[in-house]
Amino acid sequence: MIRLVDIEKRYAGTGGAALAGVSLEVVRGEVFGVIGQSGAGKSTLIRLINALERPTAGRVEVDGIDVASLAPAALRVLRRRIGMIFQNFGLLSSRTVAANVAFPLKLANMPRADRDAKVATLLDRVGLTAHADKYPAQLSGGQKQRVGIARALATDPDILLCDEATSALDPETTRQVLALLRDLNRDLGLTIVLITHEMDVVRASCDRVAVLEQGRVVETGTVADIFDDPKHAATRKMLKSLSLWERDGAVRSTAEG
Ligand SMILES: Nc1ncnc2c1ncn2[C@@H]1O[C@H](COP(=O)(O)OP(=O)(O)OP(=O)(O)O)[C@@H](O)[C@H]1O
Ligand SMILES: [Mg+2]
Repeated sequence: MIRLVDIEKRYAGTGGAALAGVSLEVVRGEVFGVIGQSGAGKSTLIRLINALERPTAGRVEVDGIDVASLAPAALRVLRRRIGMIFQNFGLLSSRTVAANVAFPLKLANMPRADRDAKVATLLDRVGLTAHADKYPAQLSGGQKQRVGIARALATDPDILLCDEATSALDPETTRQVLALLRDLNRDLGLTIVLITHEMDVVRASCDRVAVLEQGRVVETGTVADIFDDPKHAATRKMLKSLSLWERDGAVRSTAEG
């Protein structure tokens, strides 16, 4: 469904490449994780998928179509098929929960009555019906991310991109949000690309995972493969920090920001 072919990405005015020789394929209906340390190129990779960034070389395909070849109108259609959620939620602080979720529908010129019905369905889906008229500042982190998820689902996307979507949340809230993402994957057939620097997030939610190190994919496999038989030093290192985390109990490692 999503294919990256020999991607290189260099930002203007920087020395090295943020991504180099990256190829990977995300299959329809799976939860695909991309794990790597800070600066590995994770956000760059995810932003290539919805063409927020253009590759310097190589190709990004969604359903076989090169996204770089799309004219502006076709690109808008593609972006409606791809929802995105962020570490810092990206909510409009001056608007209510319902208005935040309605925002993409307004942009798509959906009539008011349809919009209200759709927002009600979405809020129910993420368990926020009782909070529709609150403002983001009145919500917990987990509730804010649920608003982000409802808003991302407003245009009925079939792909959801998650950039460190649980990194600002405590472990229990992280588990709840990951469980919601798994439910959406199962119930709606949503294909999810999930970026994280935490192995426990990968284990809790992904089918397959690619390990990114300094702009290169050093290992790809099922979550079982990666946990049972990690091949690359970078993977082993991240697994090691996980076992530390597990041994020490509830204190989450913040070493990698
Ligand atoms: N807009 C930009 N302009 C210039 N360089 C950038 C830009 N965005 C990212 N980079 C550089 O590209 C590399 C990869 O950055 P990226 O944000 O993709 O990493 P990341 O894996 O998401 O890191 P983090 O875990 O800290 O979010 C880094 O060296 C970064 O400094
Ligand atoms: Mg990032």
